[in-house]
Amino acid sequence: MFGLHKNKEKTKAWKKLESEYKRFRKIEMRDLFAADNKRAAKYTLRVDDLILDYSKNRIDDKVMAGLLALAEERGIPAKIKAMFEGKKINYTENRSVLHVALRNRSGQAMLSDGKDVMPQINEVLLKMKNFSDAVRFGKFKGYTGKKLTNIVNIGIGGSDLGPVMVCEALRKYWIKGINCYFISNIDGTACAEVLNKLDPETTLFIIASKTFTTIETLTNAKTCRKWLVNALGEHAVDKHFVALSTNREEVIKFGINPENMFEFWDFVGGRYSLWSAIGLIICIAVGFENFEKLLEGAYAMDEHFRTAPLAENMPVIMALLGIWYNNFFNIHRYAVIPYDQYLQYLPAYLQQLDMESNGKSVDRENNFVKYATGPVLFGGAGTNVQHSFFQLLHQGTEIVPVDFIAPAISHNEIGNHHQILLSNVLAQSEALMRGKTVAEAAEELRKAGKDKEEVEALKKYKSFSGNRPSNTLLCKKIDAFTLGMLIALYEHKIFIQGMVWNINSFDQMGVELGKQLALNILPELEGTAFAVNHDSSTLSLIKAIKAFRK
Ligand code: F6P
Repeated sequence: MFGLHKNKEKTKAWKKLESEYKRFRKIEMRDLFAADNKRAAKYTLRVDDLILDYSKNRIDDKVMAGLLALAEERGIPAKIKAMFEGKKINYTENRSVLHVALRNRSGQAMLSDGKDVMPQINEVLLKMKNFSDAVRFGKFKGYTGKKLTNIVNIGIGGSDLGPVMVCEALRKYWIKGINCYFISNIDGTACAEVLNKLDPETTLFIIASKTFTTIETLTNAKTCRKWLVNALGEHAVDKHFVALSTNREEVIKFGINPENMFEFWDFVGGRYSLWSAIGLIICIAVGFENFEKLLEGAYAMDEHFRTAPLAENMPVIMALLGIWYNNFFNIHRYAVIPYDQYLQYLPAYLQQLDMESNGKSVDRENNFVKYATGPVLFGGAGTNVQHSFFQLLHQGTEIVPVDFIAPAISHNEIGNHHQILLSNVLAQSEALMRGKTVAEAAEELRKAGKDKEEVEALKKYKSFSGNRPSNTLLCKKIDAFTLGMLIALYEHKIFIQGMVWNINSFDQMGVELGKQLALNILPELEGTAFAVNHDSSTLSLIKAIKAFRK
């Protein structure tokens, strides 16, 4: 074990990193850059057209050696192998973790429970291709014979965020005449706002739910089913509803023809499922050929991850940098800032991926951990966020490591917009790293003609501590292949961190308690049960809601 274990023992690599932290915490990145003009080249990795520049991190060779020793000590190479071999690394649910099989383009078998999962995966992929082509080319029509042009994905969490994020990221590749909509929230507004725009005759509903028991999805699906049946009658359902799920029984119970079901399996976690049948709306939106490119991009990253030595392994390096800040600098947060409008939903997608995976407190030996695990992730599209929370990133007392993501070429090269955008992303990471000393700020003020008193009054406010870390992920263009690589990069990064922290990144029991309590409260709000057994705050809020709704 590592870190503060039950018996308070710290491992060798952990102790070494603690002493590295003591040596390193005062070292300024700007001095490291000044001393070594090869720093950027040394701390840059490339996979295909995706470049990671991690030189603006608070690291040197000794720190990196310490972090890599931690990865070795934690047996990371064997753990990567175990995932690809279908070992049941999701041990609390006794499941393999094989989202990598969904994009396995090698033609080789991948095993779960000793059985090759590739034939079933390829069978569903073919079904997705045939169906998405049939919708796109108008062969699969609505009940009244009209082309289905409005595609509505009803799902939540992993059954929503991946498809939304990818569809938006690849908007430039959307098939002409196809419109995609997403209903996730139980708030009736989500349903109402989408349905108001639609014509039942041209609408296809995709009900996406791994378990097919999620209350939000089933409630939204029932409302949409009713809307369709009211307009076109019960017989229309087969032509307007398909299901994506692992749970055939519940799909049938809901009233969807099992022939219209696209299956996936328990070895695919919800937040890792966009590569599975859950990606059906992506296939319809951008064409199956682009969905395949997405899979190919992810496969390229998988192969890199599986075969590259730790020191050159992009997901491993990103994971270790995150651990360096999280566990040694005690910085328990980071931001992901894509400088690409089409990637605006990437931070929300990564929030689930990271925080649902690594927001855990019990280790694999059944002990409550005594060290920090998953960080808080937030973000938004640049440059917008520069005008909102970047003030804190530059001058606040909290340090927030940032992942900047930028494509060198935009899908919309209008005037010099993209050059301005790119100059901003580079400027932000430079500013965070370099900062501006009080003396430099004073000098600037003097040069701007301020008198001595004004200089004294303002110089601290105008200074930037700097030494704030960031990664820059630069690619040529955000196409399906690059996007696939990018998503797989984060998946693997998060997996490595979970393995170093000795937690299970593949269950999500923390979402259950709230669901359970909501089920108790619902009949109390509906007036079919008395509110009992709550704290006084919950009781009085129930009372207030009832009073407002009278
Ligand atoms: O509540 C969390 C969660 O279980 C996620 O892990 C999952 O992505 C989401 O709900 C939706 O679940 P389902 O696809 O089974 O409807």
